[in-house]
Amino acid sequence: MAPTAVRAGAFVHHLQLQSPRPEKLAAFYGDAMQMSVEKLADGRWHCAGPQRQVLIAQGQARGFDFSAFACRDADGLAELRARAKSERLDPAAAPSPLLDQAFSVRDPDGNGVVFGLARETREGRGLRGPLQHVTLATFDVQRIEDFYAGKLGFLVSDRVVNDKGGIATSFMRSNHEHHTLACFLSSRQGLDHHSYEAGEWNVIRDWADHFAARDIRLMWGPGRHGPGNNLFVFIEDPDGNWIEVSAELEVIRDRPVKHWPHGERTLNLWGNAIMRS
Ligand SMILES: [Fe+2]
Repeated sequence: MAPTAVRAGAFVHHLQLQSPRPEKLAAFYGDAMQMSVEKLADGRWHCAGPQRQVLIAQGQARGFDFSAFACRDADGLAELRARAKSERLDPAAAPSPLLDQAFSVRDPDGNGVVFGLARETREGRGLRGPLQHVTLATFDVQRIEDFYAGKLGFLVSDRVVNDKGGIATSFMRSNHEHHTLACFLSSRQGLDHHSYEAGEWNVIRDWADHFAARDIRLMWGPGRHGPGNNLFVFIEDPDGNWIEVSAELEVIRDRPVKHWPHGERTLNLWGNAIMRS
């Protein structure tokens, strides 16, 4: 199967969350994630910082509408659209004003996925942290993997496999970064977390200082993931969405898929295993 999404060099451009109090959530992203905040004419809130954007619509807490990927160029986008058509995914008009020539499809859990072309935008200032990956929660990781890898041409980088041989986690990429989309086995469906890539450890330190100054506590980490080998901290927004700031994420040129045992090995800075609560 052709790696169409990888050939298109797709990267996470933005995502849309739902919230019962979108204005309050947007203000949190504005302050915590160093974004400007603007109410759009259709009532959605648009939060934008340097290489990071989030849309927030009225809805339920932790509701998730879509992730939106930008392709490297128009040819890559056209190939992806043709692939979506040939896979009978019924590409439709995109529900986002932030990408050009965009189309959207739905994954088997009902999560929207948008592909389009990024346009030049005036970027704000702030700590380094481009939006980098989206991680879904699902009852059936294989089904989600079959959709993104099998139908859209993401490539699987790593899987976490449980004792019975079932897939607990799948990490998939749409460019050279270890994962731009991941999926966790869960008792719920939707968004597990989204992540910003700070690049290097010192910048995570600066983000952690920035969070501490706002009394935003770290929910998990600092630590280093096994799959992807990235350093991380996690915080939580007022609706309960988890936000990751990551660094040193593995870059993959070409290598076989790796399988990791269940109970992801995550080390804290002192070498002790730490598990997410
Ligand atoms: Fe992550």
